[in-house]
Amino acid sequence: MISANHEQQITTEDIIRSRRSVRKYERGVTIPAAEWNEILELAFSAPSSWNLQHWRFLTIQEQANKDRLLPIAYNQQQVSDASINVVVLGDLQANLAAETVFENAAPEVREMMLGQINGAYANNSVFSRDEAIRNASLAAMQLMIAAKAKGYDSVSMGGYNPKALIKEFNIPERYIPVMIISIGKAAAPGRATERLPMEHQVISESF
Ligand SMILES: Cc1cc2nc3c(=O)[nH]c(=O)nc-3n(C[C@H](O)[C@H](O)[C@H](O)COP(=O)(O)O)c2cc1C
Repeated sequence: MISANHEQQITTEDIIRSRRSVRKYERGVTIPAAEWNEILELAFSAPSSWNLQHWRFLTIQEQANKDRLLPIAYNQQQVSDASINVVVLGDLQANLAAETVFENAAPEVREMMLGQINGAYANNSVFSRDEAIRNASLAAMQLMIAAKAKGYDSVSMGGYNPKALIKEFNIPERYIPVMIISIGKAAAPGRATERLPMEHQVISESF
């Protein structure tokens, strides 16, 4: 249960059920810094392989920068109107975080984990790319749920030009853009969407 106020209890289920992709936002809304930090903290509590936390969030909230992002996102208006755009990046060299992540582990555990992680990442660009996208996507989903829990809406976007994004915002080669998420106060609700039948989506035991 997430306690909203004295009269009302909003459940995790309510938040998940009420999230929709919102594409119309009130312009000029600033998410207070303390609240934004809480949202980030919730997003960053996502699980990740070996706890390597493969995500980086490039946050774009100055209007001039949102408007630089607009054509890169094929003029999807939400990019200009929302309070914040988060360019979710995946770390292609997440193994480099291992030393810090396992800093306080027992020396033998640390050595074992570092050996395992560096072994997995050695000369394996497919693995590092899959891991970057897989793990950053979990933080991205948590970001949207956390924002919703704090009263903000969002839309995740794959509709952008990655080459132009990398160039315009000087994204280092180490990071791969995974998606952009616009977050803000809804000016109009998202449209209802259907889901495919459960029997189509669930394969029980084996194909
Ligand atoms: C990876 C990904 C990429 C998406 N790209 C876009 C996009 O570029 N523009 C957009 O308006 N919506 C985009 N969406 C939102 C989807 O259209 C939306 O999630 C889907 O229709 C289901 O609706 P709902 O989010 O309201 O439940 C994207 C969603 C995901 C997960």
